[in-house]
Amino acid sequence: MNVSKAGRLTVLLGLTAFVVGVSWNLSYADGKGIFASKNCGSCHQTEGPATEKTFDDQLKKKGPELWYSGSKFKKEWLVEWLEKPTTIRLLKYNSVTEKNTEKHPALSKSEAGEVAGYLMTLTAKEAAAAGVTEASTPMGKNLFQKKYGCVGCHSVKAGAQKVGGVSGPDLSEAGKRLNGNWVYAYLKEPKVFKPVKRMPVFVGIINDNEMKTVAGFVAAQK
Ligand code: HEC
Ligand code: HEC
Repeated sequence: MNVSKAGRLTVLLGLTAFVVGVSWNLSYADGKGIFASKNCGSCHQTEGPATEKTFDDQLKKKGPELWYSGSKFKKEWLVEWLEKPTTIRLLKYNSVTEKNTEKHPALSKSEAGEVAGYLMTLTAKEAAAAGVTEASTPMGKNLFQKKYGCVGCHSVKAGAQKVGGVSGPDLSEAGKRLNGNWVYAYLKEPKVFKPVKRMPVFVGIINDNEMKTVAGFVAAQK
């Protein structure tokens, strides 16, 4: 092989490595691609609005819907959770009796960042900013714990302890996880976010002001 042939070969090899590197990086950097390749969609809906009409439709779902992730979650929490998932629902998804002992699939740090980036692009117009103040006010606490009995199904912290029921998702750290404006929208627009569900509908029971206050209380729990 003469020098110029060797040179051309080096250039060719370099170019191949470059092209492979770029395409590998591109697919890796694509949160939507990672979501698909890990089969996350087998348990999670990423397209809305909700289609379930009967309780059976709800029972067929294996995990919470993610089509409004960008409205629902705080991004920092989402990135962290995807890398190190913890139990949110104390009972198994869709069960009212069985304890949740399942380990959720975990992603690497960089995958978690990419997937969270993708999920945060999925938003619902119904959860637009509504001016909810995220604050643990005495009024909010009273609504949550006494007036509307949310605590019967959801746990929150009371000093060093946790109090409350387990039939709904644990809300003791909801302030790290959920946006106040989304919690308000969830209470206000049950047909959009959860047409078939176990949680009571509070529309017409809680007035708008109280709804915002209790939503702000939930989104301030840490
Ligand atoms: C076998 C079904 C299954 C698969 C596969 C799965 N999940 Fe989940 N996922 C669940 C269940 C069940 C929960 C609820 C866990 C809890 O509440 O403790 C959950 C919770 C979540 C949450 C929090 C949602 C919320 O509202 O609290 C996110 C985000 C999430 N999964 C993303 C993913 C991603 C990304 C993947 C792919 C890497 C994935 N999931 C794969 C079943 C699954
Ligand atoms: C009878 C039990 C029950 C009561 C009372 C109740 N909830 Fe729920 N809640 C649930 C259940 C169960 C879910 C999960 C979705 C479903 O199946 O409805 C839920 C879901 C939620 C969610 C979404 C959490 C998530 O991570 O997806 C929020 C926020 C919430 N409830 C807030 C409240 C507030 C605020 C009140 C009081 C005004 C309340 N809940 C009263 C049972 C209850």
